[in-house]
Amino acid sequence: MNVSWEELEGMCLSCHKCSLSETRHNVVIERGSRTARLMFVGEGPGEQEDLSGVPFVGPAGQFLDKLLIAAGFEDDDYYIANVVKCRPPNNRDPLEEEQAACIGYLRRQFLLVRPKIIVCLGRIAAKALINPDFKITKERGVWFERKGIYMCATFHPSAVLRDMSKKKPAWEDIKAVRRKFDELREEK
Ligand code: URA
Ligand code: SF4
Repeated sequence: MNVSWEELEGMCLSCHKCSLSETRHNVVIERGSRTARLMFVGEGPGEQEDLSGVPFVGPAGQFLDKLLIAAGFEDDDYYIANVVKCRPPNNRDPLEEEQAACIGYLRRQFLLVRPKIIVCLGRIAAKALINPDFKITKERGVWFERKGIYMCATFHPSAVLRDMSKKKPAWEDIKAVRRKFDELREEK
């Protein structure tokens, strides 16, 4: 049986299962609607997220918000979480053991939100959720169906900010997410 939102929040806020707890300012759990049928998953909090306790509020998040607004999404159309809930120092990739320690919380978030669509933001989330050998450049924008849930991955917004040639494909991916979202509108 899954835990309640209150229990999950309590577990995350008091968690010391990996060493990221030693350097965090805040545990970063979620943003958006807990009943959304669309969920985005990033890799882990950056500096602004660590300071505010809210996912995707820094430059990457602001860019993501622009794409989502341009695709016609409203704030309560989606829910956002990360593979790890505490900031990796200097924004390094979260280590395998940190991801393994934390992923159970994300799985509980899936069970509570019950999204119809999960979009992985970047390579780390795609490897953790779709396939450990996932190749973001080749496989972004491809839909995978698992137990009635549609999953895909796109470039991480930070990667797009570093390399603007990724902007067009990222926008195509978000538009495809919009189409899938509209297609499944009747189902939740
Ligand atoms: N990058 C992520 O992967 N997640 C955040 O919450 C912010 C930046
Ligand atoms: Fe716990 Fe996850 Fe934070 Fe590690 S990253 S301390 S597992 S909440």
